[in-house]
Amino acid sequence: MDPLIREALRVRGNAHAPFSGFRVGAALEDDAGRIHTGCNIENATYGLTVCAERVAVFKAVSEGARRFRRIAVAADGPTLVPPCGACRQILWEFCGDIEVVLADPHGHSETLRLRELFPRPFDASLL
Ligand code: THU
Repeated sequence: MDPLIREALRVRGNAHAPFSGFRVGAALEDDAGRIHTGCNIENATYGLTVCAERVAVFKAVSEGARRFRRIAVAADGPTLVPPCGACRQILWEFCGDIEVVLADPHGHSETLRLRELFPRPFDASLL
């Protein structure tokens, strides 16, 4: 199995999802090959919940990583789970047109580019 998917599945086990029961893991590979992980962390207010992808990006940035190659997102839904709209915006801002690997615990996966998921981004080039 791709080590990035393995890490996303592993960190999914740390998800704090008592309200939705929907556990998500993300693994972000930087340009040095280091893997930064994140899981979804829910909150009783619901709105303060942070998705796995954003946790992974913010952890990586706070560790000094700035260039990224790929992110794997692992969940167990009826179909493979793509990043939400807010996460697509954050991923675009910090990672650009990276590979996005969607995976589940049953061995299914699909690789897309962020551009396909987020075709006409708002970003600093428009300011
Ligand atoms: N969630 C993620 O962590 N990433 C996604 O790509 C989709 C949604 C989380 C947020 C919330 O904790 C739960 O999944 C249900 O929406």
